[in-house]
Amino acid sequence: MYLFKRVDQLREFLNGARTNNRTVGFVPTMGALHDGHLSLIKRSLAENQVTVASIFVNPTQFNEASDLDKYPRTPGKDLEKLAKVGCTVAFLPEVSDMYPEDLDTSLSIDFSPLDETMEGQERPGHFAGVAQVVKRLLDIVTPEYLYMGQKDFQQQLIVRDMTRQLSINTTVVTVPTVRETDGLAMSSRNVRLTDDHRQRATVLHQTLLSAKEKLAAGESPSAIENWAMQALQIPGFRPEYFTIVNADTLTPLPDTEDLPKRIVACTAVWASEVRLIDNMLLRGQL
Ligand code: PAF
Repeated sequence: MYLFKRVDQLREFLNGARTNNRTVGFVPTMGALHDGHLSLIKRSLAENQVTVASIFVNPTQFNEASDLDKYPRTPGKDLEKLAKVGCTVAFLPEVSDMYPEDLDTSLSIDFSPLDETMEGQERPGHFAGVAQVVKRLLDIVTPEYLYMGQKDFQQQLIVRDMTRQLSINTTVVTVPTVRETDGLAMSSRNVRLTDDHRQRATVLHQTLLSAKEKLAAGESPSAIENWAMQALQIPGFRPEYFTIVNADTLTPLPDTEDLPKRIVACTAVWASEVRLIDNMLLRGQL
């Protein structure tokens, strides 16, 4: 596996590697890699000749300094995992090279209505930061395919919308969420859960599964949302939202029989100090 820490080194390598119709797949990460990330890398490896994985804890997408400080950083272990699955290139840039003082990396894109609910509402500025870093990374890597996890459902929609609005010639591929055997969605934050909270964190997946059954049985989305907020209120847990929306626009569902083809339920729950998110398509496919 090649390891690059500088933008110009990576660019030089990719210029040489991109010959004979070889395609480049790209997986942006913030490190603390788990099997969810590795499933993105494996998918890219299966579909491209060159796979680049970046590890960069992007300061511009954290709206709380304490969350940025607490974000787990395990570069040594991450590189071992990437090498083990056969990733072609690991890219670990410095903040100064990602955001050089003499380069304007700011973006002003209107993502509405996609950024008006859920994470967009709870974490002001978060998606502007995500869009900024993904755009900068796409400018550097110029991949044919970009692999994003379903786990961050709203994020993958916003990144898709960004590539559309800026006419970026990269196809976004969304890869299904990887779960622990008890259903908990894999996340870098899971390591911060106490043993007790880790056991009870299955409540997110269970509530999403029940919501899917309830919608199929004809219960109204708003009744299911209210039920779910109660179901998630177990000792030590505090649900922030449980929202059932159109999976393409993230807008509320009509109060009629005429439901859209793709419906997603998204939730954010605090387990003490740890914020967990998860989602499930209640109708339609990824
Ligand atoms: O999902 C993440 O880990 C981050 O938001 C991303 C896409 C790597 C951008 O920093």
